[in-house]
Amino acid sequence: MTRYRFSEPPPSEITPKALWLSRREVMRAGLALALAPLAGTVDAAPFDPEQVVAGPFSTDEPLTDPRAATGYNNFYEFGTRKSEPAANAWRMQTSPWDVVVEGEVARPGRYGLEDLLRPHTLEERVYRLRCVEGWSMVIPWVGFPLAALITRLEPTSRARYVEFETLVDEAVMPGVRRPVIAWPYREALRMDEALHPLTLLAVGMYGEVMPNQNGAPIRLVVPWKYGFKSIKSIVAIRFHEQRPVTSWEQQAPREYGFYANVNPEVDHPRWSQASERRIGESGRRPTLPFNGYAEQVAHLYDGMDLRRYF
Ligand code: MTE
Repeated sequence: MTRYRFSEPPPSEITPKALWLSRREVMRAGLALALAPLAGTVDAAPFDPEQVVAGPFSTDEPLTDPRAATGYNNFYEFGTRKSEPAANAWRMQTSPWDVVVEGEVARPGRYGLEDLLRPHTLEERVYRLRCVEGWSMVIPWVGFPLAALITRLEPTSRARYVEFETLVDEAVMPGVRRPVIAWPYREALRMDEALHPLTLLAVGMYGEVMPNQNGAPIRLVVPWKYGFKSIKSIVAIRFHEQRPVTSWEQQAPREYGFYANVNPEVDHPRWSQASERRIGESGRRPTLPFNGYAEQVAHLYDGMDLRRYF
């Protein structure tokens, strides 16, 4: 596997490095003193980049500049402006990190991140991410299929949905002091979507440990759905018989459906979804059904009216 190195921004385009590198990288970069009053111990990297293998389903489209992918983010817990996650998320402590597993499952409990990761081979997969706001990126994620973890956790026969929840920590997340949505951020998938081999639990990007602003230490990546389904910084995974209500659905049910499949034919009530702006390109390109993954996932929705189940 070729390792990607975050490039140095030219002085003309200075986003200070501390804004786009995660805290642990800042520490490694020797800026520990500047952060000392806030920082704890140096986090242990959750994986060795040398152990990552090339995974399936990757697109060979050009990668998005990592400075855009790590500097232009949606992570509303850290603020609603695109630059705020990179400016604020370094304060989030991502080690130690536990994920609580609950509900219709034979192996509930509180799992340390290391225990969640240990049995899994980490893969690099280059996926497109299409945000509901009309922009898209191509990102080399490092992760493993969610299906592999779900299989280990042994959901019961009643489990039909899986729900995820993000950390809420007012001390480090200025965004959660305002009720932009009903925190914690919650997302969910139908079990067959969660078990689909494209669905990834990611712990890194560009061959490196996940930057905080992109959802460290562990996030979901569901490439055929709008980006808001790809929930960041997961602290709970819950198995349900009944379909859970997700945060965006609760906030604006006419605008954000449970499925959120990328669909150029179903407009958002306030804007068209027919085209997208690929970050780094000029002009717009047509958006593909299921974000270009129709061959892999369209069958999951056979017989469903995707205008109704948007
Ligand atoms: N997860 C949490 N917890 N909070 C958020 O605000 N934003 C979502 C998703 N996951 C969001 C989140 C949206 S709208 C998008 S487009 C993607 O994260 C952006 O991921 P990126 O910043 O890694 O590109």
